[in-house]
Amino acid sequence: MAAQAPHARSRPAKSGTALDHTIDSPALTSPGTALDRARVVLVIGESDTGKTTLVRDLANTFHGAGSSVALVDADIGQSEVGPPTTVGLGRVVRPLDRPSDAELVALRFVGATSAARDQVTTVVATRALVDRALELGVDRVIVDTSGLVRGELGRRLKQAKIDALRPDAVVALQRDGECEPILHAYGRSARPAIVRLPAAVLPRRRTQEDRRRHRERMLAAHLAGAQLAALDLGRVVLRTPALFAGPALTAEELADAAEVVGQAVVWGERRGGEVAVVTERALGEMEARALSRRLRASGLVHHALDHLVGMLVGLDDETLDTLGLGVVAALDLGGARMSVETTVEPRRVAVVSIGRERYRAVSRSEEAAGGRAGEPRPDSRRGRG
Ligand SMILES: Nc1ncnc2c1ncn2[C@@H]1O[C@H](COP(=O)(O)OP(=O)(O)OP(=O)(O)O)[C@@H](O)[C@H]1O
Ligand SMILES: [Mg+2]
Repeated sequence: MAAQAPHARSRPAKSGTALDHTIDSPALTSPGTALDRARVVLVIGESDTGKTTLVRDLANTFHGAGSSVALVDADIGQSEVGPPTTVGLGRVVRPLDRPSDAELVALRFVGATSAARDQVTTVVATRALVDRALELGVDRVIVDTSGLVRGELGRRLKQAKIDALRPDAVVALQRDGECEPILHAYGRSARPAIVRLPAAVLPRRRTQEDRRRHRERMLAAHLAGAQLAALDLGRVVLRTPALFAGPALTAEELADAAEVVGQAVVWGERRGGEVAVVTERALGEMEARALSRRLRASGLVHHALDHLVGMLVGLDDETLDTLGLGVVAALDLGGARMSVETTVEPRRVAVVSIGRERYRAVSRSEEAAGGRAGEPRPDSRRGRG
């Protein structure tokens, strides 16, 4: 199906700007339109189609008309509300220059910067924050998403989001019908209303490098002022990886295990027939199989300290609200202690999840190269914790 452009008005590009066309948000939300009545609006589309800009414009239009507006940023890579690896909920308290100007209300840690790596957690976190926004009683909730729409993965992810959030309207920004496999499923449903818009036409799309830099700067801003905090894993739940969930292996069993795999086994525990072990370095498949046999385990879960230390970690309260992020500085499983660089007050932490992303500090030269198109302003942090 061809993309319709009823709400896009052409205007000549101003010299030196990227604007090829602009979407008229007031027309899009005028009386009688799908968006005029919608309380929850989900915006989807490939990367660089203008989703975040449209989210900002819709937020400003609704806010300007006197509505209370919340944004849920479900793009865990090119995040605007909250740092990358999290889904963020923000409240619009003044006109937005960009979505990161919203006041941060809540975060949910996913632990990855691509929903492809953890679709279920991304969808659940997004649902939780939309619920929170509705509980706050806001008039409008606008949900921004990642550019993952193509292929079976994109289709399943976006349909899962639509089915879980049950938005009143879905706005699809597309170049060439690429969202149609997603929208197709709702062709006979009264809800959600589907609004198709042409994608922004950009002279230059952002590179992987631009995107990486955006993520790193947002993370650096969130972690600014972080200090070393000690977490007692006897008190705090280690949710991911799930450890301290069963009786520990004895020192003898650990020594025996070390002999099998040819490296130190720093932790092990049984949960039913399954055994979980933590080694210094990752185990190969053969080593894992040999160890599983030696321990007479029905299954072996193995983690490497190498893949835990230095990673981003989500620090949650007892309701699984993420208080903030940290970086794992050290992990002493035998002593049940973890030290984390964070701005979060350690006493407030009830649950920790170690994510899949390694934190890489922004270098001075990259800092100096900041402020280009697509980059957050240096003061875009609305961190909390
Ligand atoms: N309607 C538009 N016309 C022209 N340029 C636009 C339009 N909307 C957005 N842009 C510009 O395109 C670039 C990408 O826009 P935006 O960040 O909104 O895209 P996105 O779909 O959210 O991308 P991503 O998937 O990477 O988050 C920005 O530089 C923005 O200023
Ligand atoms: Mg975006």
